[in-house]
Order: sequence, then structure tokens, then C-alpha cells
Amino acid sequence: MKAVLLDKITEGKDIVLSECPVPEVRPGWVLVKVKAFGLNHSEKLLRLGEIRADYIQKPVIPGIECVGEIADPSDSGLAVGQKVAALMGGMGRSFNGSYAEYALLPQRIVFKIDSDLPWEALGAVPETYFTAWGSLFECLHLTPNDILLIRGATCALGYAAIQIAKALGCKVVATTHREEKIPLISEAGETVLDDGRLTGKVHGVTKALDLIGPRNLRDTLTAVEKGGIVCQTGLLGGVYALNGFDPIKDIPNGVYLTGFFSNYPTQQVMDEIFAFLNEHHLVPTSGKVFDFENIREAVIAQDEGKVNGKIVVKL
Ligand SMILES: NC(=O)c1ccc[n+]([C@@H]2O[C@H](COP(=O)([O-])OP(=O)(O)OC[C@H]3O[C@@H](n4cnc5c(N)ncnc54)[C@H](OP(=O)(O)O)[C@@H]3O)[C@@H](O)[C@H]2O)c1
Repeated sequence: MKAVLLDKITEGKDIVLSECPVPEVRPGWVLVKVKAFGLNHSEKLLRLGEIRADYIQKPVIPGIECVGEIADPSDSGLAVGQKVAALMGGMGRSFNGSYAEYALLPQRIVFKIDSDLPWEALGAVPETYFTAWGSLFECLHLTPNDILLIRGATCALGYAAIQIAKALGCKVVATTHREEKIPLISEAGETVLDDGRLTGKVHGVTKALDLIGPRNLRDTLTAVEKGGIVCQTGLLGGVYALNGFDPIKDIPNGVYLTGFFSNYPTQQVMDEIFAFLNEHHLVPTSGKVFDFENIREAVIAQDEGKVNGKIVVKL
């Protein structure tokens, strides 16, 4: 099969498709014929640095998510041809991922999907919608009465969160750090140019999805109303931890801080996501679709940051 194999720091321009054997199934693992996969910021972090870490299998086929069909169910009980989505749980890091024609995946991260959407639309769903869903509902307990702040909305996750929250009926305030990108998030209803300080500029915010991360976290915490919840999900600001964070002083009285990690997907949440998309007639948002043969161009586009929204690769 054709696959991308990484063993060192690799920029988009150096991505090549190599030939390697189709993996053999073993108990507890299923073979998926990959039909589409999305690119993720975390794969960029892997390619450009984390690949050096000991816990990364090398060479590794990257790719933390995919959609496809069961080619060999092994002992899973799944039927050959079953439509599935898979994500996370070490995929594309401690075992091979989705930048390939076939992926051998542990059954625990492979979920049935019930949808008639085309593969390239389904390819935008697993990681991005699972993360948006978990952040909004498991962590933020979002309801239609909320005013939701999405900080750093011009990313795949941000666009998906806007779509879900608007379909739910929330008021949404979306931010970008680039003035020229304000039209891209206008679906939110209210947009704000983020210069690093939102406190005092946004009003009535009851829930906040922070995709910029620790760089602005203290300000997000003071930008929400008393009783509000802040969910820390993204790291676009390039700062990954906060030295000297003082919970007593940095979290205002009566404000709640939570975080979401997409490493533990479940069939129940996958079912909820597809039921919601079906009920609201939503097509998953994507920025650009590439053919697998053009994976190098897809990854270059990711490195250049010129695609607005999810980059999807179809096979
Ligand atoms: N917690 C979890 O489990 C989890 C799961 C999935 C994703 N994430 C995180 O969520 C974030 C979004 O992921 P994604 O895959 O949706 O990203 P993505 O689609 O690859 O988005 C990247 C884009 O974000 C934009 N961006 C917005 N504000 C930015 C800022 N302040 N600094 C730098 N870039 C900014 C950049 O465009 P412009 O600068 O042109 O606006 C960039 O092109 C990432 O940090 C990712 O690691 C976390």
C-alpha cells in the first residue's frame, strides 16, 4: 500500500508517499480501508518536533483520525464493509495512523457511523467534531440560553464549534487575531478582533471555548461573567503550559475552569454527533479537499496556514 512514513522532522515540502506492506490483523485490532482523513494541528506538531520523542514509534505513519470501511474485522464482530470513524488513543504516534491506504487500528478507537454524507464530508468529522462536541457539552454544559465565546475561531475546531452552537440556538461571539479573517467567522453573529485582551470588550459571556491556550488564559478567565465556565481546548497561541499560574488569584471567584482532551472517544458520543448533524441538516465544515496522491500539497497547505478550515484528504 501507499503511505507516508516519518522518522525525522519533516516539512510539508519533504512529504512523499512510500510503498509498504498492508498490515496483518491481530486480535483486538481491525483493518480499515481508509476513505478520507482530516489533517490536524497536532500532526504538524508531531512532524515539526515531537517526532524526536522516545514514545513515538519510528518510522511512523502519521494521522490521528480517519473514516473508512472495515476491510478485515479480526475478532471484533464488525462486518466487512461497515462504515467507521477512528481517532486518537495513540493513533499516528504510538502505532501507525491514517496517512495510508489501510490502517490497522485497535478496536477500542474504531466506531460505527450511520450517515449518507460523502466520504470527503465525513473525513472532516472524527477529531474536530468529537473535540468540539466534548468541549461544548461535556465540559461547558452548553445550552441554547448561553452566550458562547469562541476564542481563536479561525481553525477547523472553531468553525465546527460555531456551526454546532448556532444550530443549538446560542448567541456566539467569535474572535480572530486577523482583521481580514473576520468575514470567515461572521456566521457566529458577533465577531471581535482579538489583540490579546478581551476583558471588558465582550459582555454577558457565560461559556468560553479557548482555542488559543495558556498565552491568553488569564484574560479569558476574566472575560466571562461570574458563574461562567472556561474550557481550555486549543493551543494555537504556541504556549503549552503556564508557569506561575495561581488558581486562587487567576481564576476569578465563581468562574469555573475545565479542559478537554480528545483521547477517549466513545461510540455514544459519535452517535450523538451524527444524530445532531442529521437532525439539523448540517454538512461538516471543511476548508479544502485534496486527493491522496497530492498529500504533499495538502501538508504544504497546512504548513502555510492558507486553508481556512479543515483540510481533508480523500482516497
Ligand atoms: N484538546 C484536544 O484534545 C484538542 C483536539 C483537537 C485540536 N486541539 C487543538 O485545537 C487547536 C485547533 O486545532 P485545529 O486542528 O482545528 O487547527 P487548524 O485547523 O490546523 O487551525 C490552524 C489555524 O488556526 C489559526 N489561528 C487562530 N488563532 C491563532 C493564533 N492566535 N495563533 C496561531 N494560529 C491561530 C491559524 O490561522 P490564522 O492565524 O490565519 O487565523 C491557523 O491557520 C490546536 O491548538 C489543536 O492543537 C486540541
